[in-house]
Amino acid sequence: MSVAEIYETMAYGPAPESDAEALDWIAGHGGRFGLFIDGAFGDPGAMFDTRNPATGAVLAQVTQASGADVAAAVAAARRAQPGWEKLGGPGRAKVLYALARLVQKQARLFAVLESLDSGKPIREARDIDVGLVARHFYFHAGLAQLMEDELPGARALGVCGQVIPWNFPLLMLAWKVAPALAMGNTVVLKPAEWTPLTALAFADLSRQAGLPKGVLNIVTGDGAVGEAVVAADVDKVAFTGSTEVGKAIRRAIAGSGKALTLELGGKSPFIVFDDADLDSAVEGIVDAIWFNGGQVCCAGSRLLIQEGIADDFHDRLRARMAKLRVGDPLDKCIDMGAIVDPLQKGRIEAMVAGCGGEVTQGDAPQGCFYPPTLITGLEPADPLMQDEIFGPVLVGTTFRTPSEAVSLANNSRYGLAATVWTENVNLALDIAPKLAAGIVWVNGTNMMDAAAGFGGVRESGFGREGGWEGLRAYVKGPDAKTLKPVAAVAAPDKAVVEAIDRTAKLYIGGKQARPDGGYSRPVWSPKGALLGHVGLANRKDLRNAVEAARGAAAWSRTSRHLRAQILYYVAENLSARADEFARRIGDMTGAKAKDAEAEVSASVERLFTWAAWADKYDGRAKGVPIRGVALAMNEPVGVIGQFAPDEAPLLGLVSVVAPALAMGNRVVTVASGAYPLAATDFYQVLDTSDVPGGVVNILTGDAVGLAAQMGGHMDVDAVWSFSSADISADIERESAHNLKRTWVNQGRARDWGDAAAQDFLAQSTEVKTVWIPYGE
Ligand code: NAI
Repeated sequence: MSVAEIYETMAYGPAPESDAEALDWIAGHGGRFGLFIDGAFGDPGAMFDTRNPATGAVLAQVTQASGADVAAAVAAARRAQPGWEKLGGPGRAKVLYALARLVQKQARLFAVLESLDSGKPIREARDIDVGLVARHFYFHAGLAQLMEDELPGARALGVCGQVIPWNFPLLMLAWKVAPALAMGNTVVLKPAEWTPLTALAFADLSRQAGLPKGVLNIVTGDGAVGEAVVAADVDKVAFTGSTEVGKAIRRAIAGSGKALTLELGGKSPFIVFDDADLDSAVEGIVDAIWFNGGQVCCAGSRLLIQEGIADDFHDRLRARMAKLRVGDPLDKCIDMGAIVDPLQKGRIEAMVAGCGGEVTQGDAPQGCFYPPTLITGLEPADPLMQDEIFGPVLVGTTFRTPSEAVSLANNSRYGLAATVWTENVNLALDIAPKLAAGIVWVNGTNMMDAAAGFGGVRESGFGREGGWEGLRAYVKGPDAKTLKPVAAVAAPDKAVVEAIDRTAKLYIGGKQARPDGGYSRPVWSPKGALLGHVGLANRKDLRNAVEAARGAAAWSRTSRHLRAQILYYVAENLSARADEFARRIGDMTGAKAKDAEAEVSASVERLFTWAAWADKYDGRAKGVPIRGVALAMNEPVGVIGQFAPDEAPLLGLVSVVAPALAMGNRVVTVASGAYPLAATDFYQVLDTSDVPGGVVNILTGDAVGLAAQMGGHMDVDAVWSFSSADISADIERESAHNLKRTWVNQGRARDWGDAAAQDFLAQSTEVKTVWIPYGE
């Protein structure tokens, strides 16, 4: 056939990529891989097969690590850690740079190996995965270089246990390993059982980059090995995978003091407005749901389309689907490769079977392939609209107005990503802040870059990977002392009762409320004087307080300037009552007058600090390598449950309430159990300072009794505890219900003389990354 004839027919011909080098590499290891521990491959142990899903052929045999193997890997990482950290940022930067260069030099081997092992099209592995891997190591080499200047005092966490999934095997390794190593940590990583080969190839390569032995260890195996890594003596766990396993991990390590980040599933909306460029939106859908066969945590898997264009759009989409080529992943002309494993294909089939909507499917060959699928006309509550399918299946419904689009989009337990397609920039920028998602793409989709944070809210997990914000997950501040429990002053043998009886109520929705249970307790001074009574809040009071906080959502939308003004006003009113507060602190704690006065003036100062920050915690405009910017916006977390510290009854309270308020959150704060009256006095100050009802809710009572309720409450977005009571484990374990963020002291003291602004700012905000077309 002549070239002219080919142009005439545009007939499709295969363009196969050779697998010879990748198979040679496997053969070079005898087709059997041991674990990579302490800089060397060990002898193969109990083996399992890893297969090419496109053909079913066995590619290699890989070791199922034992508990002892995991312990040995962690021990090697532990030994290597101090030396790696001492090497310093610039020293580590050189090794990360070498890794980036080596990935580039071996790019084709990695791409082919990835395609063989996972079934993803070579085009994607080559043009997207491997390029992003190299970019990630370059970027983090830069962060290591700058760390000492930009993150003064930050120290490595220690040994990180990292467990990754099969959908982007090498890219997920890069996302986990690069920031950990950059900040001076060492790593034990477990790749997914279906796709271990590129991690082993990377281990091979790391020796050439001069990575000291023990800094990176790879243990292969199934979920049991993942469990062993999580349970091992590691300082941090980083996990990407299913929400179900994420919850199990959250529970498993509750109270252990291990840091945790979770990147979990999603059901990300893809919203098309009626003014969108429809053909480009169709191409967007191709990238959203048929990229990697929809086996992408941030896949745009829920199509929300404005009613007036729905028929036209679906017609165009069906026409495009008919042209998608599904088949041999090593064929460079292929749009969609194999599903990672017959088990996963079975899961997809089971979910789609018997569904109620109108189903359109493209073509797919026999074997472990699944056709591109569109299902329209589903109710928002349909399981297929709610549950992650993790396959090439797009489900959809229609909407009429922008606000309906937002409420449908947010009608999900997930909150990873969202895509908005419109030619109207005002509309896009109006919708983006309203979406409950960690990432919003405007007129584009599935864009990722090392400079931009990636991660979600709600049951999509917490923490960000990439960018400066991703580093927080891999560093820690100075060591803190153990916190001694502070008990309430016991009833004296001989009570001094002078003043008129006074019972401080709870403060809920801007009103004083009697405790539902009808119980209260006396508060004694160390000298035996009865200072008053406080109510003992129960779970119903807590529910009411959360409801009030939810209802005060307008606070999150007020201008930062207004929030600053109100915090200044609180400071002013507290200052006017300084003597009274100082006396109260002295009476409750027995502190000397000058110390109590100092605590009040430090509290006023602290309010000034947070008023100052209210309008200054700017986001960043990230220079991502596309024609656009990624705006990292610091958004409020929402409703934060707080357990106030006991050490500094007023300063501690102000130090936790004010930053949350400054960043636009509403709080439910459980006052110090030992010294609650500073909090009940403080709400009177709030009442006179224009703080809207419901923004701050104050409960008094038993922190131990309330911790599990707060931790498990489905309408609370984050819980902080600085209490001296032993409640960290309860909060972390219960938080697994909706995977809320937790920030708990694990029995460690804090210096309340220090505003620790960066910590509080980060904990009071979620970074939403909004990708918008911009520039030339
Ligand atoms: P998974 O969450 O079970 O596996 C992810 C990783 O965790 C693998 O390395 C696995 O060996 C490990 N693992 C499994 N159980 C563990 C445990 N108890 N403790 C520690 N590590 C453990 O995902 P799976 O079964 O492969 O896929 C199931 C569903 O999960 C998919 O259909 C999809 O919906 C979702 N998924 C989501 C991913 C995402 O990136 N959001 C990635 C992979 C799966």
